[in-house]
Amino acid sequence: MVANSILIIRHARILLPDGDFMTGDVQVTDGTIARVTRADVAATQANPLLPSISPEDGTLEIDAHGLTLLPGVIDPQVHFREPGLEHKEDLFTASCACAKGGVTSFLEMPNTKPLTTTQPTLDSKLQLAAQKSLVNYGFFIGATPEVLPDLLQSNPTPGIKIFMGSMHGPLLNDQEEGLEKIFAYGSRLIAVHAENQARIMERRQQFAGITDPAIHSQIQDNLAALQATQLALKLSKKYQRRLHILHMSTAEEADLLRQDKPAWVTAEVTPQHLLLNTSAYETIGTLAQMNPPLRSPHDNAVLWQALLDGVIDFIATDHAPHTLEEKAQIYPNSPSGMPGVETSLPLMLTQAVQGRCTIAQVANWMSTAVAKAYRIPNKGAIAPGYDADLVLVDLDTYRPVVREELQTKCKWSPFEGWHLTGFPVVTIVGGQVVFDRGTIHSSVRGQALRFDA
Ligand code: DOR
Repeated sequence: MVANSILIIRHARILLPDGDFMTGDVQVTDGTIARVTRADVAATQANPLLPSISPEDGTLEIDAHGLTLLPGVIDPQVHFREPGLEHKEDLFTASCACAKGGVTSFLEMPNTKPLTTTQPTLDSKLQLAAQKSLVNYGFFIGATPEVLPDLLQSNPTPGIKIFMGSMHGPLLNDQEEGLEKIFAYGSRLIAVHAENQARIMERRQQFAGITDPAIHSQIQDNLAALQATQLALKLSKKYQRRLHILHMSTAEEADLLRQDKPAWVTAEVTPQHLLLNTSAYETIGTLAQMNPPLRSPHDNAVLWQALLDGVIDFIATDHAPHTLEEKAQIYPNSPSGMPGVETSLPLMLTQAVQGRCTIAQVANWMSTAVAKAYRIPNKGAIAPGYDADLVLVDLDTYRPVVREELQTKCKWSPFEGWHLTGFPVVTIVGGQVVFDRGTIHSSVRGQALRFDA
């Protein structure tokens, strides 16, 4: 951050913390929102050039006429592949994709090489991100049965990630006894990938030899997800332990939480589990393959309702890029996962513009509620004192998702060709303009996120 820098965003349609909109100016001083001012309607009608905040020397101004200002997206589940898997993505390319997608902070998962399971591996990721990431960053610590001290003490981290299934190697925690140990010790948030590994293994045998990727949704079926979520919920209740259910995908899990959701439990859903279903295998084949898998239109509808009703708290992309060559392998050799940080905000804003939810709900699900659940201070709202992580979006224009424009290293999206509105026009991280009308300012660097205890 440049000392005493001032940025003024002029005449934006600003989303306020109470969910209302106000046309006005936002002044950012040294990376923090200093003032949010209503445009003086009478004065601006008489003299449209009269600003509500007067410029000072050295001030950078952004003309936001016709644009909507939202808190920057905090994406709470991404796989950015560095270190060790940089042929798929790295922290620079992924954070460029974030900047373009209006994502100003991300929480990244531990299945890199080496795995993020100790303080030294966490520290080295933080160092890499400080060098390479254009946006703010935080890294989960991965649970293996052997590293209890690191799980309790490593910092800073949003929480402990447990793969209950859909994983091989040391990050797999599929035994209740081992899981119980993790839930029993400490107090930090536990985020679970909830799929029952035993059921998946059994069904893999049962459906062996089938190469149609649509079988993926049957092998890793709704019951496999439900059983794991039931177990995580049981342990969370037993120890009153903060639990977050990652990428919830089924109607059954949503119904379970609707009936029984302790105050210390949260859940997220991905745009793809809301907007894609098993019919996607017919059009995009293995590009639709992810864990937990895409489900039915009924699941889409129940998940949407659960999100609207607050049963599901927020949205994550599970950005998990693989190269097109890797994805071109025949199922089941094709890897699971799809990118998402560049499309999540316009996908959800398009739903809002089309009347399925409100813009304020989208901002809550993609920023405010995430900051609250992970106790990230000073983020998720446009108000004085908050960090100036902001995105200006254009809600009037529709454009298709185009492969050639993608910043992610994997260079594909399951949403290619979808006509969307609400694409970011300007993205601001800590008061610095990181994306401006198509240009990425690649010298900007984000900061390590803090997590209150
Ligand atoms: O589809 C997925 N891919 N789901 C996950 O949870 C992991 C991810 C990956 O890392 O590729």
